[in-house]
Amino acid sequence: MQSSIKHVAIIMDGNGRWATQRRRPRLWGHVRGASIVSDIVEASDNLGVKALTLYAFSTENWSRPLDEVTGLVKILNKFLIKERQRLIKNKVAFKVIGDTSHLNSEIKKLIQDLEHETKNFEGLKLSFAFSYGARKEIVDSINSWIVKHPNQLMTEQDFANGLYRPETGEVDLLIRTGGDFRISNFLLWQIAYAELFFTQTKWPEFSVAEYTKIINSVANRERRFGAIHSMPSLDESQQLAKQHINQI
Ligand code: FPP
Repeated sequence: MQSSIKHVAIIMDGNGRWATQRRRPRLWGHVRGASIVSDIVEASDNLGVKALTLYAFSTENWSRPLDEVTGLVKILNKFLIKERQRLIKNKVAFKVIGDTSHLNSEIKKLIQDLEHETKNFEGLKLSFAFSYGARKEIVDSINSWIVKHPNQLMTEQDFANGLYRPETGEVDLLIRTGGDFRISNFLLWQIAYAELFFTQTKWPEFSVAEYTKIINSVANRERRFGAIHSMPSLDESQQLAKQHINQI
């Protein structure tokens, strides 16, 4: 299926509340939440989505109780082992974006191996934002530019090229589950023109059916990218703007 929604980003929120409402530990909510990730990954491919970026753990999440933090790291570890074959079979190009330096060596190796094994795959570009913060990503891009190009100003494109996974480009659709209306330091640069969708559904209850409905409803929204009529893409809108600037 062809869709104008090529890059989807999801803030998978509401796990803790979902579990607490059921008198279970918060970690149980994360476990249940992790169990639907693969279905959403597979559905993305079927819906014509080319890149999916999932917010699994923010830099701020390190301040949660230690058992929750270690639990989330273990969930990632298990996911990498359990889903490896399925990701490879589906030609998913996997990458973790964020600061993985604090993770243990076993999980770092699992991440590196899977990234290496899948890096040339042409299927869905799946990114897990883990120990991720958008402000840090922004500062990292600027710093790496300064180191390589002292005394030279950067363009928007130079900046975008220095982000953690530049090939995934702009986000077309940002979904947040769990009922809050916040961005929480996620992909701040990449969501400049994204359509935003907030659902009350808590992440463990999110489904392929709801995901499909959201994509279809957003694909029908008119996207103008600053113009007055619907534009096919941000690139085309920017090119047209440049042509007009040169004509006046
Ligand atoms: C926010 O819910 C969610 C997280 C901090 C973690 C999201 C992680 C998963 C869905 C599992 C990770 C999956 C993989 C495969 C690594 P919250 O705890 O803030 O919920 P609350 O707002 O109800 O407290």
